[in-house]
Amino acid sequence: QRGRAQEKTLTSTAMAQGSEGRKAQPDHLGHVIFITAAAAMGGFLFGYDSSVINGAVEGIRGKYDIGSAALAQVIAIALIGCAVGAAVAGKLADRIGRIRVMQISATLFTISAVGSAVPFSLYDLAFWRVLGGMAIGMASVIGPAYIAEVSPPAYRGRLGAFQQAAIVVGIAVSQLVNWGILNAADGNQRGKVLGIEAWQLMLGVMVVPAVLYGLLSFAIPESPRFLISIGKTDKAKEILAEVEGHAIDVDKRVAEIEHAMHSEEKSTFKDLIGGKGGLLPIVWVGIGLSVFQQFVGINVAFYYSSTLWQSVGVNPESSFFYSFTTSIINIVGTVIAMILVDRIGRKPLALVGSVGMALSLALEAWAFASKTADGTLPTTQGTVALVAAHAFVLFFALSWGVVVWVFLGEMFPNRIRAAALGVAASAQWVANWAITASFPSLADWNLSGAYVIYAVFAVLSIPFVLKFVKETKGKALEEMG
Ligand code: GLC
Repeated sequence: QRGRAQEKTLTSTAMAQGSEGRKAQPDHLGHVIFITAAAAMGGFLFGYDSSVINGAVEGIRGKYDIGSAALAQVIAIALIGCAVGAAVAGKLADRIGRIRVMQISATLFTISAVGSAVPFSLYDLAFWRVLGGMAIGMASVIGPAYIAEVSPPAYRGRLGAFQQAAIVVGIAVSQLVNWGILNAADGNQRGKVLGIEAWQLMLGVMVVPAVLYGLLSFAIPESPRFLISIGKTDKAKEILAEVEGHAIDVDKRVAEIEHAMHSEEKSTFKDLIGGKGGLLPIVWVGIGLSVFQQFVGINVAFYYSSTLWQSVGVNPESSFFYSFTTSIINIVGTVIAMILVDRIGRKPLALVGSVGMALSLALEAWAFASKTADGTLPTTQGTVALVAAHAFVLFFALSWGVVVWVFLGEMFPNRIRAAALGVAASAQWVANWAITASFPSLADWNLSGAYVIYAVFAVLSIPFVLKFVKETKGKALEEMG
């Protein structure tokens, strides 16, 4: 009886604390932004590494004299590394801490960059790409989890969006760097720059942000939620006061977090299992968000952009230009989402994005349906395809791009956060692989048909969000579940 009464008091304290936390202005917002940006370096590497390969494919093809199928394998295999990295990162983060996982990821990025720049053989290169993939997978989990855990509730959406912002900037920077290196090599991916072939340098340059990520990880504090889970409450209090501001009562805050954790136990995959032996419903929602984010075909727009434009008659230089304008639109959309995510909430943004993506994908499907035998589009359809492709990326960026990573970082209860996020992110990498590996064959079969499929997923994402996804805007992490 007394236990229950005590629990009740604690819960109401927690609720009160939660709303206090929501309103509290952190004294050190600048410092929180620095911490967030440092953690988001992993996102930058995620974007950079997954997109840098686009500029290097022709060099790799020439060097190892391989066909498109083998080349596609070398590219796609990295995504399997991503899935593995994401799957292990959650559990590892609960064992050894969030910061250590960032350091492992940074080390793998560094080794992979050096290895990929000077591979002995194609297999060797594939191995380094898988290793880099594992680093990306880890970064994709640890960034959102860590940022959500150090953010004051009222800013969590915006701060969480730093991860996606870093991803999209990473994609844009890789395109610029590739372009610069290619120019230095007189337009030939196998031309020599600084003693190695252009494509090798493209892959090797990543060593710079990788080392920076590693160094920055030493300058930021461990997550207070992780510290509490291993009993280091005093240290956790210090960090909470640092990030949530002195307006909050840290003792109450810690009690609230401890209460929400229920036990000191670290989460394992077993904790993700519900009553009937299946995954907990909330984990399925995370997986659903991940799968829809990929099944609308976003990475077709990034990984195959040049090929796509050339296939409808755009010349190679202009196709590079359009890939870059797509990236700029991606950044613009992300900034819009950052402004709106804590104001109007995650769900409304996702829904607006779904509608916009469905319409623009349908337009792309319509335009590509008029592709002639020589691979070109009539002028009107060509223009529609170009505008619709940019509109699609804009709608994605201002919605599902940001919202999914923010949701995944914050939607799970503390005790299962890292493990559940690992599972959801891993599913996302498998979904990414399924879409990017199947696109070439789908496009050969029917380019317009491929876009119809992506449009159908955009439409289906609407009832999914309405029925299964709960708004998390402004709530304390301890109120999730
Ligand atoms: C999101 C997706 C990622 C995609 C990126 C494009 O981060 O998870 O797969 O490449 O958005 O901006």
